[in-house]
Amino acid sequence: QLYQEPDRNQSRFSPKENWLNDPNGLVYADGTYHMFYQYNPNGTGWGFMSWGHATSTDLVHWDEQDLALSYQPSQTTSADALTEMIFSGSAVLDEQNLAGFGDNALLAFYTSHYPKGSPQYPGRLIQAQSLAYSLDGGTTWARYEGNPLIDIGSADFRDPKVIPYIDGDSKKWVMLVTLSVERKVAIYESTNLIDWNLASTFGPVNAVDGLWEMPDLFPLPVDGDENNVKWVMLLSVGDGGAPNGGSGVQYFVGDFDGTTFTADNTQGEAVEAHDGELFEDFEAGYGQWTVIGEAFGSSPAEGTLPDQQMVSGYEGHHLVNSYRNGDASTGTLTSETFTINADYIHFLIGGGHHPATGSNETTFNLLVDGQRVESATGEDAEQLRWHSFDVSEYRGDEAKLRIVDQNTGGWGHINVDHIWFSDEPFEPQDTALWMDYGPDFYAPITFDNMPADRRVAMGWANNWRYAGAIPTSGWRGSMSLARELSLETVDGEIQLVQTPVREVQDLRDESTYTALPEVTLDNESTPLGEGLIDPRVAEVNVRLTLGSADEVGIRLESGEGESLTIGFSVEEGALFVDRRKANRQFIHPDFNSLYEGPLSVTNEEVEIRVYFDRSMVEIFGNGGETVLASRFFMSEGERTLHLYSKGGAAEVSSAEAWELTSIWP
Ligand code: FRU
Repeated sequence: QLYQEPDRNQSRFSPKENWLNDPNGLVYADGTYHMFYQYNPNGTGWGFMSWGHATSTDLVHWDEQDLALSYQPSQTTSADALTEMIFSGSAVLDEQNLAGFGDNALLAFYTSHYPKGSPQYPGRLIQAQSLAYSLDGGTTWARYEGNPLIDIGSADFRDPKVIPYIDGDSKKWVMLVTLSVERKVAIYESTNLIDWNLASTFGPVNAVDGLWEMPDLFPLPVDGDENNVKWVMLLSVGDGGAPNGGSGVQYFVGDFDGTTFTADNTQGEAVEAHDGELFEDFEAGYGQWTVIGEAFGSSPAEGTLPDQQMVSGYEGHHLVNSYRNGDASTGTLTSETFTINADYIHFLIGGGHHPATGSNETTFNLLVDGQRVESATGEDAEQLRWHSFDVSEYRGDEAKLRIVDQNTGGWGHINVDHIWFSDEPFEPQDTALWMDYGPDFYAPITFDNMPADRRVAMGWANNWRYAGAIPTSGWRGSMSLARELSLETVDGEIQLVQTPVREVQDLRDESTYTALPEVTLDNESTPLGEGLIDPRVAEVNVRLTLGSADEVGIRLESGEGESLTIGFSVEEGALFVDRRKANRQFIHPDFNSLYEGPLSVTNEEVEIRVYFDRSMVEIFGNGGETVLASRFFMSEGERTLHLYSKGGAAEVSSAEAWELTSIWP
């Protein structure tokens, strides 16, 4: 029965049991591809984060191995006081024994997440970068004694990605780590992989509405020209930050000189370059704010009371209102009185919260004469990022600011990075590029040490918005296909192009190959491979010539009346996936939507390549210029494929389909 469950993807990795999120430590060594991943060995929800491990010789068939790096359990009786969780990170092959553990040691760089209550930092949540090494090709791992390697006293500092940087004859190593709340990437450098120095920071810029996580940086030739190399930075943007409404992956194309990354796809200065007067005393540690309702600073080591804290003195200044696991709580913070001396008050506020385990509502109020005159609310502190109040009518009045935070569980905190006054309205720029326009592609990183200079990424096929609600039992979470990345000029702009790695073609069951003769569809649909292929796990490749149609595409239907539609909308100029009718049951309020990404069409031709799996689809438009990944949960039983046109005629120039063989033993 294992791996035969109706929702179990057959061409993509998932763990035998329990929870999986981000891919970690993707590395090739000695003929083997290693994939580590965020894993909860104790259950199907997020928690007890550790690194699971799987290996492959072809990037397609994966064998699950023993747990690589385990969380460290509580040394007290309180379950939320785990000593250390192993958050995301990367791995490299230390061929030259720079770190001194041995030739060809595998080194894993990960975030040590020390929850509040861990013995290392009593009363504070700290994320720091740590190292583990393996001398037996990734099977067993030892923690480096000098951990953590990098600790700046931050609660949101994670996901180290270590990359080689080669300049002529000299090689060094670079580590990217996100300062998630600040929307920055810290770039460190090292020659021995142990001692790291801060070289520069990047951001905040472009998509800043969600936390920044999981950075990566790599060079790629533009249009295959080795003399024109550009660097690509991948950055996952947390819940609320992506076009799909939840979490997604933005990227930057630019230049990297070993120290500083400069992005081309930005407009003007980073959004942080605001002028205006900072709130008095704010930078000085917010000492004048008053906490109402909850005991400030009283944080019993094992109690159930929420606690609020104001923390300053480490990188950045934050007003922090934070909560321990599992408690419902409200915290109110009120500023001292000040005089409104400008037309606008802007605030830059963020938060860290795990939506899988609770909710968090934040309200920011302006009080004049004790009355609330302006108010903004976000379901999560994240949604209030970069907010402004027009206060021109209160100029000269005495006022106070009040932040109210309500939390129903999980770990969470609000950080107020800056509050400032100015006479100018404030508009963050958005020239963001997105790697995947579907709802379910997050936290991708690329493999280190790939043969033949290939650049291959894998992502977690999920979205933090509803990750905990995925309706599988016994296991939860799936990876995407491995995707080969390149840079191409499309419509005059350099952009990422992605295709499934060529090894995926070996899954084609040639005996099921089906093709349609050229056919015109005039506002109608036609079956594809009816009775010949089972499209539950299949590759479909169609080329359509747009005529008078408004919409063309592919529909997957179940015997129970459910349907998943993949189409091109002429009016929107967009490739889309519509899963509103694709699910046998209610999953989450934010699950039933239509997702679309811009696709440019030349000569009226649209090419759509689709990789269907039992509970997900990855869609590659025009050779991978626009990509969408989406999970869906249809009823068990037969599924059928149809090509369709709507609102007019379109020609199917070619249509091919194969069943794909399973990657499972
Ligand atoms: C991204 C992420 C990372 C973190 C990990 C925790 O999905 O939030 O930033 O390291 O998941 O599981």
